[in-house]
Amino acid sequence: MSHLDKQPIRVVVTGAAGQIAYSLLYIIAKGDVFGRDQPLILHLLDIPPMMEVLEGVVMELADCALPLLRQVVPTADPAVAFNDVSAAFLVGAMPRKQGMERKDLLSANVKIFKVQGEALDKHARKDVKVLVVGNPANTNAIVCSKYAPSIPAENFTAMTRLDHNRARAQIAARANVPVPCVSNVIIWGNHSSTQVPDASHAKVNVNGKMVSASEAVKDEAWLRKQFIETVQKRGAAVIAARKMSSAMSAATAAADHMRSWFLGTDPDEFVSMGVVSDGSYGAPKGVVFSFPVTISNGQWKIVQGLKIDDFYLDMLAATGKELEEERAEAMAVIQA
Ligand code: NAD
Ligand code: LMR
Repeated sequence: MSHLDKQPIRVVVTGAAGQIAYSLLYIIAKGDVFGRDQPLILHLLDIPPMMEVLEGVVMELADCALPLLRQVVPTADPAVAFNDVSAAFLVGAMPRKQGMERKDLLSANVKIFKVQGEALDKHARKDVKVLVVGNPANTNAIVCSKYAPSIPAENFTAMTRLDHNRARAQIAARANVPVPCVSNVIIWGNHSSTQVPDASHAKVNVNGKMVSASEAVKDEAWLRKQFIETVQKRGAAVIAARKMSSAMSAATAAADHMRSWFLGTDPDEFVSMGVVSDGSYGAPKGVVFSFPVTISNGQWKIVQGLKIDDFYLDMLAATGKELEEERAEAMAVIQA
């Protein structure tokens, strides 16, 4: 079927006048997320003072003359933005500045996700797939889900794909192979400096032979120290260098996350995604925790039965504890 015969789907991007959206909108609109034959109606939400900037983004999208983009709806009204959407990229929130921990954003940002949860509940399709990018992403996702009780909790996810991509890129550079040769890294837990980048189940294609990350990089000490710390602190390193938080890489990761969710993962591949925890691997239940997942028919499934090396266990407990604390703090902010 050609795209001319297919019904468009509605996709909302919040924070649409911001820097992540500036990269993300083009990736979505040219068909890299939902398929090259899937027409789109893009809903762009931002706050009233940003409407003029948003108008400029709308002009640029029109000027790209993209074949799949049927309509663009810029708005400051969540009821319009979330109406009938099949996919929601919740990017709009304050970014971290130099010296701030992601936790510092909590009081500024969680209220946004209560309002947007309520609007999704009222206006979105019941099968909407929601990706929270705005920080603290895991906790914002649980807040959003709580205020959208008519939408299944598994439809709310948080982005750790950027950390996942960072981990793949670090291993690829160290093993001197192209990035697509590295798969099945895992990011456990929170999208914060307590996250646990784990390469112990990664697969690396070295000259056509599949080997472990240990075999590919030949430096276990690096995998257990510099690799982990580089990925954990990469967001802060980008902020220190750019004086702004990551945007091009964050947009790419958001597109990767949603593409995997809509179109599925490759056979034998898993990706990292913040999803509502069922207690797998000892993670606290009911927080949005990043796990390795496989996806088919639009449904994610936590990969079960992986052996976790003792080395990672305390770190897994610490990131779980941080998520429980964030959840309690978020609820206190909302109820205050
Ligand atoms: P930005 O400041 O450039 O853009 C944010 C936009 O959101 C602004 O246009 C702002 O007006 C808008 N906004 C604020 N409140 C809103 C609301 N209630 N509804 C709709 N829009 C609203 O920031 P950015 O660099 O695009 O980053 C956005 C968020 O993404 C930040 O919280 C940042 O920390 C986070 N982030 C997450 C990851 C991740 O891996 N999960 C990676 C990078 C950035
Ligand atoms: C990132 O990981 O780059 C973003 O979450 C921005 C930040 O605050 O680190």
